[in-house]
Amino acid sequence: MKTIIIFESLHGSTEKCAHKLKELINGEIAIARLQENENVSIDDYDRVVIGGSIHMGVIQTRIEDFIKNNHSQLAEKKLGLYLCCMENGDTAQLQFNKAYPEELRKNALAIGLFGGEFNLGKMSLFEKKFTRKATGIKNSVSRINEEEIRKFALRMSEGIS
Ligand SMILES: Cc1cc2nc3c(=O)[nH]c(=O)nc-3n(C[C@H](O)[C@H](O)[C@H](O)COP(=O)(O)O)c2cc1C
Repeated sequence: MKTIIIFESLHGSTEKCAHKLKELINGEIAIARLQENENVSIDDYDRVVIGGSIHMGVIQTRIEDFIKNNHSQLAEKKLGLYLCCMENGDTAQLQFNKAYPEELRKNALAIGLFGGEFNLGKMSLFEKKFTRKATGIKNSVSRINEEEIRKFALRMSEGIS
């Protein structure tokens, strides 16, 4: 069974998660970053994983556009949807629900909130100021949830819905 992981990532967290999933999901796996190929084809794949991240409450426009342009095809695939963000609980869930259309969320084989990172070293001056002001952090923080990634990979691998 062939899988493609399609992602977008500003500072690398969603990308890290994509590579971790590539190690953990069984079968043949391809990875595509939308920034490098916005029109990536999913024709040849049985399973599709989409991963994006949240900035100022919204997922990347490239992910939104990709989903809009491929919606009917995605609805027929074994689908996984994940998100990186630093909010937890209900806020994270609301961001997830806003990021991915209900029809796809309901039919997805796996959905995952993988946590995220504040990597000050990779931020622009504006992003650093915004993040420091909004969160009070002084140093970079990593809160990627490896367990959620493992569970997600297992669901994709075994086809448990
Ligand atoms: C400028 C900025 C705004 C952010 N806004 C949000 C937000 O609204 N909600 C949230 O949960 N996380 C927010 N985050 C945290 C990101 O989702 C987190 O850094 C994530 O790991 C980014 O993944 P990426 O590097 O793959 O893009 C923000 C981060 C930055 C730098």
